[in-house]
Amino acid sequence: MLIDKSVKSFESADAEVLIVGVSKNQNNISNWDKFVEFFGQPIEQWIKDGDIQTSEKAITKIPVFTSNTKVKRFIFVGLGNRKTLTPEVLREAFGHVGKALSKLKVSSMNIWVDSFETDEIPASDAVIMAAEGILMGSYKVENYKTTSNAVDVALENVSFITDKDIDEIVAGFEVGEIYASAVNEARTLINKPGNMLNSAKLADYAVELAEQYGFEVEILDKAQLEELGMGAILAVNKGSKEEPRMITLKYKATEKWEDVIGFVGKGVTFDTGGYSIKSKAGLVGMKGDMGGAAAVLGAMRIIGELRPNKNVIGVIGSTDNMISGDAFKPDDVITTFSGKTVEILNTDAEGRLVLADAVAYAKQQGANYLIDLATLTGGVITALGYDKTGALTNNKAFFDAFLEASIETGEFVWQLPLTENDKKRIRKSDVADLNNSPGRDGHMIFGGGFIGEFAGDTPWIHLDIAGTSDALSEYDLGPKGGTGVMVRTLATFVERLAQEDLK
Ligand code: BES
Ligand code: MN
Ligand code: ZN
Repeated sequence: MLIDKSVKSFESADAEVLIVGVSKNQNNISNWDKFVEFFGQPIEQWIKDGDIQTSEKAITKIPVFTSNTKVKRFIFVGLGNRKTLTPEVLREAFGHVGKALSKLKVSSMNIWVDSFETDEIPASDAVIMAAEGILMGSYKVENYKTTSNAVDVALENVSFITDKDIDEIVAGFEVGEIYASAVNEARTLINKPGNMLNSAKLADYAVELAEQYGFEVEILDKAQLEELGMGAILAVNKGSKEEPRMITLKYKATEKWEDVIGFVGKGVTFDTGGYSIKSKAGLVGMKGDMGGAAAVLGAMRIIGELRPNKNVIGVIGSTDNMISGDAFKPDDVITTFSGKTVEILNTDAEGRLVLADAVAYAKQQGANYLIDLATLTGGVITALGYDKTGALTNNKAFFDAFLEASIETGEFVWQLPLTENDKKRIRKSDVADLNNSPGRDGHMIFGGGFIGEFAGDTPWIHLDIAGTSDALSEYDLGPKGGTGVMVRTLATFVERLAQEDLK
């Protein structure tokens, strides 16, 4: 763990900042009078006058000027009404704390844990939200300016003021740290420019992760993909000078490799659209077309840390989508790893091709349940905006269980329909089994539905994160740029499945 933890009392609190939760009904919390008395400042008056704000997510910074403490500053965190406060809002409130801490360049903090407790949220959960919010909220996108923004002061020391069982509090905070660090790692991958992150480098990252956590790892290079007949990912790669990779990680929780959940990520390191080229404006941001891959890697990191009792396979198809004399073209017909043939109508519908081979490979490698993640279509943005991940499924019970996990993490997922009529249009071609672009009307469904053809009868969920993987501007839990969406939900889902299996 990055952060040192210890227990403190008001008397021994000594950090640069003390974090305190405040709400409209503040007097209900235990030790409030003691707090006010010890620190001596007219805190209650300031709350009454609105100098300390209690509304949800409001942050008030106040210097400590009493002489009986080493604490330099309070950060008061507005919780609104403690009766209606949700874990999501609490996490977001801590996101603002994170931003405040990084602006202040703080390296030590005390959290008065019990001041964040509500009827619904025990202190041991509040610290999870605290760690997630603070570490995600304070994340900075690395830049390459000559005077770089590399973090000069980082949070190193966290201690807790609490009457609760300290082991539980520390354990909760550590879980939050693990989740947030994995999200931030995923963000860093997404934010890397295309000239700094190609498929080989993405594979190196996966190998490092495997070494760190004892995953089984396999990296297939171009020659091996040719040998295996992975004609779909190879078609997308044809115009590129860079080699593609099929990356597989296996987390083996049980003796037998059975009951395996598969995460399959789109790892397109840059998407020009190919000959169906994107507009000038549409090209910008396409370094982030590997958000699905980043989500899989982030989730695997959490799984490696927490080691749930559930077998997991992660498969990432990675290439860029470029143009050259060798590039694939509309009208080409390709043969996928599964044997199914595809008529290419649009080379910009490349993600579904990469995933066709990756999904088929995940199945061959033993996945009994599949979740694919991809920045797949602009269509999902038209349908749902930038704050909702679009989903398709072939199995209601599987999807419902997943939805529960997404509600726990506060990552909004919304299912769209995939009808027999949609499937007919995906299967319509004079020359092949499938076509890769049936039209623009409701085309999020065609994109995901195409991948579903390769999932077959295996319970499957498709997650189109084109809108949610990259934030257009700063938000509660992070800066503009890669969000690491679905990292937390995937890992939470695996943890929940592991718990169920134990019952
Ligand atoms: N990577 C894009 C989707 C995308 C768009 C991601 C915007 C993030 C932001 C994908 O490969 C793509 O080009 N999709 C096309 C599909 C179409 C050609 C059928 C789209 O959605 O326009
Ligand atoms: Mn594309
Ligand atoms: Zn793409």
